[in-house]
Amino acid sequence: MDQESKKLLEELNNSHSLTVEQYQYLIEHMDSQLLELAAEYARAYQHQYYGNKVYTRGLVEFTNFCRNNCYYCGIRRDNIQCERYRLSKSDIIECADTGYKLGFRTTVLQGGEDFAYSDQDICEIVRSIKKLHPDMVVTLSIGERSKESYQAYFDAGASRYLLRHETANPELYAKLHPASMSWENRMNCLRDLREIGYQVGAGFMVESPGQTAKDLAMDLKFVEEFKPDMCGIGPYISHKDTPFAKEASGTLETTLLCLSLIRIIYPQVLLPATTALGTIHPKGREMGIQAGANVVMPNLSPGSVRKKYSLYDNKICTGEEAAECIVCLKNRVSSIGYEIVEDPGNRAGF
Ligand code: 5AD
Ligand code: FES
Repeated sequence: MDQESKKLLEELNNSHSLTVEQYQYLIEHMDSQLLELAAEYARAYQHQYYGNKVYTRGLVEFTNFCRNNCYYCGIRRDNIQCERYRLSKSDIIECADTGYKLGFRTTVLQGGEDFAYSDQDICEIVRSIKKLHPDMVVTLSIGERSKESYQAYFDAGASRYLLRHETANPELYAKLHPASMSWENRMNCLRDLREIGYQVGAGFMVESPGQTAKDLAMDLKFVEEFKPDMCGIGPYISHKDTPFAKEASGTLETTLLCLSLIRIIYPQVLLPATTALGTIHPKGREMGIQAGANVVMPNLSPGSVRKKYSLYDNKICTGEEAAECIVCLKNRVSSIGYEIVEDPGNRAGF
């Protein structure tokens, strides 16, 4: 590690802020020593705010129909190889209920942008889960909607929303998405969600096709300024049936560095060790936690549909049952001295 990187990391650790150019410098000068020092600083905050606790979210991938056509994503509209499915309302509620019984106190209902579910349907599902388990936090992750819709879901009892910003650079956004999709609209959605009172999750892919160190630096600056309650990041992983099939996937090291830097930038942030990270390396999620992550999001979807929610190739945990994943994760987490807890897992200070 060079002297300048060391100085910048110390400055970040003291002020939780750097310029885009300084973030870029750190990314461009990454080596094993820099990774280790960033992880050390990150772990100190992780322990200060969350101890050795790791929170879980039970993910229900309830539809893989999507009106969008993001070039990187396996469930994009034009992928005719993708076998589509939709879970019924009662199936979705049952998944959440199973999750509750397995110890989850948060469920994330995630899907493609599928307007076959009306606002009323979504509200009904949320209300039913809240009625069944008032202490279960319901998180939605169903893409870009109007502020009125977001408000309706909130009033029905949803209290968190995940919407990755994907990239903080509008020019890169335009290379990853068709012209029909708007970076401005996505950013406005994040602001609307926050105004309504949701705990908001943003996030981005690491080393997506065409992404530069400066682009990543802009993502870090965005996290510094917007301070999302949660920040979901994972490596880009190519999917064979997308226009980006031949693009290289992101690396473990860059993802770990971003996790540590985000923990230092915003010490209280909720930071998942994502399935994508577990997909590019057998110990990816464990390493993510040791780099500062404090959340894992195992899958609660019925076994029959899991393989079909294929955002990228070789996704892990598609053959396992929810109960098996949770046992596996408990073992993985305890093997590195952390502990999975039965807790809704709010952002510290929320
Ligand atoms: N590789 C990694 N992550 C992906 N996502 C979508 N496609 C891919 C891919 N090929 C991420 C996006 C999206 C989230 C649900 O999954 O960031 O917001
Ligand atoms: Fe799903 Fe290990 S977490 S099998």
